[in-house]
Amino acid sequence: MKLNLKIWRQKDAKSNGQMVDYPISGIEGDMSFLEMMDVLNEELITKGEDPVVFDHDCREGICGSCSLQINGEPHGPDRLITTCQLHMRKFNDGDTIVIEPFRAKAFPVIKDLMVDRSSFDRIQQAGGYISVNTSGNTVDANAIPIDKHDADEAMDSATCIGCGACVAACKNASAMLFTSAKVSQYALLPQGQVEATDRVLNMVRQMDLEGFGNCTNTGACEVECPKGISLENIARMNREYFSASLKG
Ligand code: SF4
Ligand code: FES
Repeated sequence: MKLNLKIWRQKDAKSNGQMVDYPISGIEGDMSFLEMMDVLNEELITKGEDPVVFDHDCREGICGSCSLQINGEPHGPDRLITTCQLHMRKFNDGDTIVIEPFRAKAFPVIKDLMVDRSSFDRIQQAGGYISVNTSGNTVDANAIPIDKHDADEAMDSATCIGCGACVAACKNASAMLFTSAKVSQYALLPQGQVEATDRVLNMVRQMDLEGFGNCTNTGACEVECPKGISLENIARMNREYFSASLKG
């Protein structure tokens, strides 16, 4: 395949960026999107030019670091996959592909296509954990019976990989889907009840401090989420927040 890539280039966080055209050829349908980017970067390095910076790590849909806005969609045109799992067979010979970073005030661009998503880490640090005394008197986790349905739903929520596609898809740059998945995975389990009140209040406060927008129930986040995280999580977090506010 021959393709015309239009890629966002930005020297650093302070510089203005711009779209730059990169014609590329010899792309196979079985290549992943990131392998196609590798081919481009090898060409750029051979020519003595600056390679395009983009985030990646596991390249198998687990780590959540790959984060490209491809033709206006986070993770591209396929569904329930990350950018690293997208194959070039989804495109046609001669296509123009527009590649941008995930755009949100709370995800500032570091360079080219790489953004700073440490705002997600700070939301997680504000309450996305349980405190367990592991100093010699640990209770066996399996001693607490958990309803199968609750266990399955908690597991579904826990599959969020923190990629940020939900934020990039949202017209308000809201982080409600991410935060609610992290709240839900504990709200559904008995182990999460002890710190439930502080957890939801602190995580939502941090989410607002980071500059993410509000949810207006558009649902774009759910459509673009590579892990199929459901809007049900947002409804659950709102209920948790309401009852925590009454207690707090
Ligand atoms: S909710 Fe989905 S889109 Fe948002 S960070 Fe988690 S996995 Fe990514
Ligand atoms: S590189 Fe890890 S999910 Fe894509």
